[in-house]
Parts: sequence; structure tokens; C-alpha cells
Amino acid sequence: MTTTYETLLVERDGAVARITINRPDKLNALSPLVIRELTLAVTSLRSAPDAVRALILTGAGDKAFVAGADIAAMQQMTAPEAYAFSEAGHRLGYELEMSPFPVLAAVNGFALGGGCELVLACDLAYAADHAKLGQPEVNLGVIPGFGGTQRLSRRVGPAKARELVFTGDVIGAEEARRIGLVNDVVPRAELLSRVTDVAKKIAAKGPLAIAAAKRVMHKGADLELSAAHELEAQAFGVLFGSEDQKEGMSAFLAKRAAAFRGK
Ligand code: COA
Repeated sequence: MTTTYETLLVERDGAVARITINRPDKLNALSPLVIRELTLAVTSLRSAPDAVRALILTGAGDKAFVAGADIAAMQQMTAPEAYAFSEAGHRLGYELEMSPFPVLAAVNGFALGGGCELVLACDLAYAADHAKLGQPEVNLGVIPGFGGTQRLSRRVGPAKARELVFTGDVIGAEEARRIGLVNDVVPRAELLSRVTDVAKKIAAKGPLAIAAAKRVMHKGADLELSAAHELEAQAFGVLFGSEDQKEGMSAFLAKRAAAFRGK
């Protein structure tokens, strides 16, 4: 199925998909349409006939990943409209977190407000060395509305998250790496090839194992430890009913590369 998007470019390279948010003249700001299209694009990739095993999310141009939710679109919103916009952002976050393939953010410039929240909803994030990240919503008289008040604390700890949200400070890529907001910092010219390398490495592993690991790590984070361990044990057990487990262990013992089929 081919879906044409007004605000996105969606590409496939084998098992790796890439979505580029494509509004460079507005620094890829998240309008309601971008949120709708992103959610639809991720959902469509989940049901693609030839399975996606890793997804890269990036922004068009080299200035911005996403400079925030679209301020022009938000300016006139009523309270119910703003509530619905926030909920739509949350749905997008869940869609990214609950997709069976890991999502990697290639942060190619500003990731502010909703852009930083999009990074937080991705499993892994790599920042170009010129990237700048932050939650500057308080400068506009509002708060993060796409999950930032919750996911930022879980990612970098409550003290640093409060500092970033209360001051609206924007930090550089190296500081973002230091506090654990991004995994690594990469020279800007190498960003996409580095992120693609990581995506391909993940795509070569057993996809059922990757999906199970992702689900258990996300769902387990909200549970008390023994309940989270139970979730892990169940997922571990279920994988032993898969062809991939037989293939992975047989291949190891036969000293050959495993050929996983996601079955
Ligand atoms: N929403 C809507 N439009 C945005 C935007 C946003 N979040 N961020 C940037 N843009 C638009 C600008 O309005 C401008 O449009 P125009 O050319 O039609 O006037 C265009 O993108 C380029 O941005 P500009 O501000 O001219 O670039 P800059 O290099 O001077 O500054 C930033 C870059 C990122 C520092 C600045 O754009 C900015 O502060 N953006 C808002 C960040 C923010 O508060 N995000 C949280 C939103 S909740």
C-alpha cells in the first residue's frame, strides 16, 4: 500500500523504514496534520506486508529535527481543542512506544518542545553535534503537552527534568548525551549513516525477541519490580515457542549465522 503524505516522506531500505518530517520552512513544527499523518504512518508501517524491523525518525533540512508544536496553529486554540491536540500527541507517543520495532530519532538540529517530546517517545536517539534540545513551553505560557512532563523525568531523572521544564533552558547535544537524553552525539554529516547502521544492526536480530524486549521494557517501567519480572519471565517463556529461538540457538551451536524469520 502506498500512502502519500502532505507533511512526511516515508522511505524503505529493506527492513529499515525512515520517516522524515517535511516542513523545513517551519522548522518541521508539529501541526495537527503532522501529528495525524505521523500516527497514521507509524500504524501503516506496523501492518506493512514486508515487516519493518527498525524505524528512523528525522526532520527535513539540517536546521531542525522538530522546533516544537506549531505555535501558529496553537495560538487560537480553545481549551477543548488544546486538550484534543495534547491527546493526539499522546496517541502518537503510544503508537511509537507500542510499535514492535525500535524507533530511532536522528536529531538533526533543534528538538524543542514537541520535538524533544518526540525524541523522548523514541527508543534510541542520536544527535548531530549542532543539535539543541529543550522544553521551552513555559516561555509561551504553557507546559509540555505531548508527554514531556512524564517521559523527561523517566529519561533523565526528576531533578534535571524539573530544571529543564521550569527554566525552559535549551541545551546542546553534548549536554543532552551527558544527562542521558540522547544516546550519542555524531558529526552532522555522519548522522544518518550512523543511525542507519544502528537500525540495520537491530534489524538483523530476531524480530520477535526485539519486539518482546521493547514491550517488556516499556510496560515493565510502570510496574512494581516483581510484577515487571513476571512480565519478563512470561515473555521469555513465550519466545521458546518460536522458530527464531530454535534457529538462534541451533545456529550458535553449529557456529553459523542465524537466519531469523520472525516466526
Ligand atoms: N511553530 C510554528 N512555527 C515555527 C516554530 C514552531 N514551534 N518554530 C519555528 N517556526 C517557524 C518560524 O515562525 C519561522 O517561520 P516564518 O519564516 O514564516 O516566519 C520559521 O519557522 C523559521 O524560524 P525562525 O524563528 O525564523 O528561525 P531562527 O533560526 O531565528 O530560530 C528557533 C530558530 C528554533 C530558535 C525559533 O524558531 C524558535 O524559538 N522556535 C520556537 C521554539 C519553541 O518555543 N518550541 C516549543 C513550542 S511548544
